[in-house]
Amino acid sequence: MEKFLVEGGHRLSGEVTISGAKNAAVAILPATILCEDVCVIENIPNISDVTIILQMLQDMGASVRLVNKTTVEIDTRGVFTNMVPAEQARHFRASYYFLGVLLGRFKEARSPLPGGCDFGDRPIDQHLKGFSALGAEHEIEHGGIIRVAADRLIGNQIYFDVVSVGATMNVMLAAVKAEGMTILENCAREPHIVDLANFLNSMGADIRGAGTDVIKIRGVKELHGANYSIIPDQIEAGTYMVMAAATGGDILVKNIIPKHLESISQKLELVGCNITEYDEAVRVVSSGIIRKANIKTMPHPGFPTDMQPQITALLCMADGTSIVTESVWDHRFKYVDELRRMGADIVVDGKVAVIEGVESLKGAPVKATDLRAGAAMVIAGLMAEGVTEIEDVRHIERGYENILFKMSMLGARIKKMEMLPQQVVTAL
Ligand code: EPZ
Repeated sequence: MEKFLVEGGHRLSGEVTISGAKNAAVAILPATILCEDVCVIENIPNISDVTIILQMLQDMGASVRLVNKTTVEIDTRGVFTNMVPAEQARHFRASYYFLGVLLGRFKEARSPLPGGCDFGDRPIDQHLKGFSALGAEHEIEHGGIIRVAADRLIGNQIYFDVVSVGATMNVMLAAVKAEGMTILENCAREPHIVDLANFLNSMGADIRGAGTDVIKIRGVKELHGANYSIIPDQIEAGTYMVMAAATGGDILVKNIIPKHLESISQKLELVGCNITEYDEAVRVVSSGIIRKANIKTMPHPGFPTDMQPQITALLCMADGTSIVTESVWDHRFKYVDELRRMGADIVVDGKVAVIEGVESLKGAPVKATDLRAGAAMVIAGLMAEGVTEIEDVRHIERGYENILFKMSMLGARIKKMEMLPQQVVTAL
């Protein structure tokens, strides 16, 4: 059983370099299948989600070669199957992108229904609505396998009923080689959507409008291999920014695109940080006070839902009452019980959390109930008195490259242990 032990009360300062964006990588790596050629992808994050995708690509017949720690060469000429490897897909939400790319390449794709972080119902109806508009039928086969297939993919006009990152990217993937023009409306506008479109365009696709709510895709017959560098991870950057706020710290967050962090910077200024933007970095200096704030998550360019648990953890020690409203996911406050174990005063009513700032948090055994909830526990641990013991850190390692090293370099006292509970007390 692997755990993180975090000793609270240490100020974080120094520099941290942000890795490539997880949520871009999990779409761009499968997208290489669309080209039947060789792609070189740079700035890939070294996280378990990426390891799983590279393994899935290999299992499907691609040849994968790590050029260095952050660059991979993928030759997809040998991909021989339209079936997504079942074991990995079941535990991995973003495996749904393989449906779009396999449909684009083979006009048929089969996959177990995707798993992933558990914060409520995670439907893929909008992905299927898009595939269907392009001419693909779907059915659920024996064993919970979804099969999507078309004789031909033909461009169409598609209006998404909800703003969905996954549906926008997946339908884009399927439409890139469809016949004629596809127009996607009510699209999500996250930075990783623009990144995927840029990658596909570098392979010869014709996609315009990514980053706005209307995306136009003129289908092309063939795509070719490309060299591409993935954007930095907005949420990893935001998480380190919150760590500065939580510890009265001073952190220079490097290798980022400041524009992607605007909604996070604005809220951190509100809670009492001084933020300076540079070309590819942002410096967060805490005033030492955490002011109360009201925050509502929204699709990009709003405050990201993937930063909601981290900011909630921070506000546990604010100087008054804060209200955090989650408007993207139905059940993304499950982790709040863990914060309460540490002395947080939070009342949740549906999608709204009311957080009464407390004088102190106390280190306690808690769980990383999902990836960002895990990051929230790390932040709470930094602020708490004593040692916080975080279970299920595999969730954290799905999305944060080298978090122990990066945090240690900033002065955090954090360790990973495989241990029995009674050993914890003497571990740090
Ligand atoms: C992506 O999930 C991210 N995951 C999530 O990040 C992130 O929380 C989410 O976008 C929102 O930003 C990846 O990119 C791999 P959605 P996704 O489709 O695409 C509803 C993290 O921590 N919906 O934008 O699955 C859905 O229920 C992860 O890094 C439908 O109703 O999210 C939700 O309420 C966790 N029908 C809303 O839309 C659909 O067909 C947004 O979901 C699809 C979605």
